[in-house]
Amino acid sequence: MKALVDRREATSAASDAVLSGVFERGEKETAFPRTLAKEDAAWKGLVHAAWDHREIKGKRREVTVFHRPDGQSRLVLVGLGPRARFDHEVVRRAAAEAVKALKGKGVRTLAVRLAAFTQDPVTSEVAARAVVDGTYLGAYEFLKYRAKSDGAVEETTIALGEELGRDETILRKAVDEQRTIAESVVWTRDIANLPADTASPERLAEEARALGKELGLKVTVFDESKLAEMHCGGILAVGGGSTAHPPRMVVLEYPGGARRGKTIAVVGKGITFDSGGISIKPAPSMANMKFDKSGAVAVLGILRAAALLKVPPRVIGVLGCAENVPSGTSYRPGDVVRTFNGKTIEVLNTDAEGRVVLADALAYAVAQYRPDEVIDLATLTGAQVVALGDDTAALISTDDRLASGLLAASAATGEPLWRMPLTDFHRELVKSEIGDVRNSIEIPVAGTLTAAAFLENFVDGTPWAHLDIAGAAYTTPLTRKYQPAYQNIGATAFGVRVVTRYLMDSPRSG
Ligand code: BES
Ligand code: ZN
Ligand code: ZN
Repeated sequence: MKALVDRREATSAASDAVLSGVFERGEKETAFPRTLAKEDAAWKGLVHAAWDHREIKGKRREVTVFHRPDGQSRLVLVGLGPRARFDHEVVRRAAAEAVKALKGKGVRTLAVRLAAFTQDPVTSEVAARAVVDGTYLGAYEFLKYRAKSDGAVEETTIALGEELGRDETILRKAVDEQRTIAESVVWTRDIANLPADTASPERLAEEARALGKELGLKVTVFDESKLAEMHCGGILAVGGGSTAHPPRMVVLEYPGGARRGKTIAVVGKGITFDSGGISIKPAPSMANMKFDKSGAVAVLGILRAAALLKVPPRVIGVLGCAENVPSGTSYRPGDVVRTFNGKTIEVLNTDAEGRVVLADALAYAVAQYRPDEVIDLATLTGAQVVALGDDTAALISTDDRLASGLLAASAATGEPLWRMPLTDFHRELVKSEIGDVRNSIEIPVAGTLTAAAFLENFVDGTPWAHLDIAGAAYTTPLTRKYQPAYQNIGATAFGVRVVTRYLMDSPRSG
């Protein structure tokens, strides 16, 4: 996909199709919306006719396509829903819906009438960003294992037309930035969608090395013997069952764009396959567990975007990568493992492996880099999906400023987060009789929060935010139809947009 900015009207840009939008009409509303006058003129009264025939209702997900009588171009009119509930997320979804409807229909280039999506409270800059997101993510296809593409839109032109004004520089910069972010999301999805036979811990390390080479980031990979020297007993225990795909810890360093910037560590759970291990999962729950590396892959995407956008803070990415499978060398329920910071974990369930891996990754990140803040992303608990569903990730944080910064970034990007509490009740529950903490509890309460209480033991008091992305990391054929059109079946790369936005807006000095 490409995104361009054109100063002309969408109707005069030479594209295969023009995209415009229309609000939902009331039951008794008959007057043709003035906002569609330009489209109607260019399409010789066809839009007005369709309105009169009540074909256009303006409901969300409604896509109406008009061919020009001369066969030269198409108008794609997408429903925006009720005007009173209009926001940037409506634009993001509408753009994706249009691009999806055009798949395989011979539309290669699309000109977007920016004015149609610039309506209070959405400014032209915010609308342009949302259009870039919607078209890039909506057009996304995972093509590695398919002979050919469905034929998605390849180029989006944001046509300024009557939005042409003095903020053109801001607008062009916004489109540039958002293109980098959307490309990073797509890049992340391509790795997160790889199956576990291919995307081994070593493969994730290779992806990090290649990224580092491309962007000039320092990348360090710790293999199993190095991890043993470092006393990373957690990653080694979880990864011990897989002889074919041994564990790795991967560190990427982006030096920061400001002279005395903050240091922010971003840590990801990278379980390349979660069978549950000895505490094996039932077959249906295992089906999507190649996506259990989504947090770590999102960290790669975040580092990519941060480096390309030259965000102010120094950013350290840490990936804890292991394959959780049963074998004679697997860790077992009852084992006690010693982690990087010296704390011991009583393993009661080998399927609660994410927190065991993150224990080492978090402890290493805070001890080695003394960050001002640490953010982790993990497909950590099934309980998160039960609590919040497939669109919203759980945010648990020990620091109100960090939490509200992430919530603000969430509101700006449309990746929903919901803050949940962390109390002494949860902290008590994870204490162990024979070690410092236990990785599972006999009573099924607040699974997402006890997991967070566990992780808190490994951040050494650093301001910390935990994003449990279990539900939002991927969509399945079952949940797909309830999701916005910019989430394809498979990996969503959730977290890349919100955390990148947070880093961009992060103050220059810590
Ligand atoms: N990777 C799973 C969590 C998960 C579930 C992610 C569904 C995505 C969708 C995690 O490792 C796990 O199995 N957690 C257990 C923890 C329990 C054994 C304490 C869970 O949530 O059931
Ligand atoms: Zn598990
Ligand atoms: Zn897992």
